[in-house]
Amino acid sequence: MAILDIVIHPDARLRKISAPITLITDEFKKFLKDFTETMYERDGVGLAAPQVGVLKRVVVIDINAGDETKEKNPIVYINPEIISAEGYVEFEEGCLSVPKIYEKVTRHEKVVVKAFDINMKEFLIETDGMLAIALQHEIDHLNGKLFIDYISKLKYQRITKKMEKYKKDLNLSEN
Ligand code: NI
Repeated sequence: MAILDIVIHPDARLRKISAPITLITDEFKKFLKDFTETMYERDGVGLAAPQVGVLKRVVVIDINAGDETKEKNPIVYINPEIISAEGYVEFEEGCLSVPKIYEKVTRHEKVVVKAFDINMKEFLIETDGMLAIALQHEIDHLNGKLFIDYISKLKYQRITKKMEKYKKDLNLSEN
């Protein structure tokens, strides 16, 4: 098992459209293990493959992550797609690719998502609450979109500057 490096904003890889997955190889299954472990290790409730530099349409979500009283329940969504959505809700979001930044974002309250599991079996999930928010946030990543794209341009620029400095400091401390 390996912990993967998280790609931090601003980075061109976070802005690309990820490619659909057509074949589940052993190598891909191994990747999914590392990918899921990385989400837990970094204290995320969700992670999208582009966040570890892999431009493929897969996300993992466990809304119980971080709650020690609850059992781990990671769910992998391959080629996830929102097929219907209704209502609106405001929620304070964060993202492992934009560390330590939390901003209120308006999302759909309820979504129906179609995806494939690790055996490429199609499934549908109809949900609201935290999982609906996480699904929308992670699926956005597959389309090159970040939660800070929904806030004011001024705040976006301020956060981007902060992240540039954060990355620079990180590099300095590594050298
Ligand atoms: Ni994110």
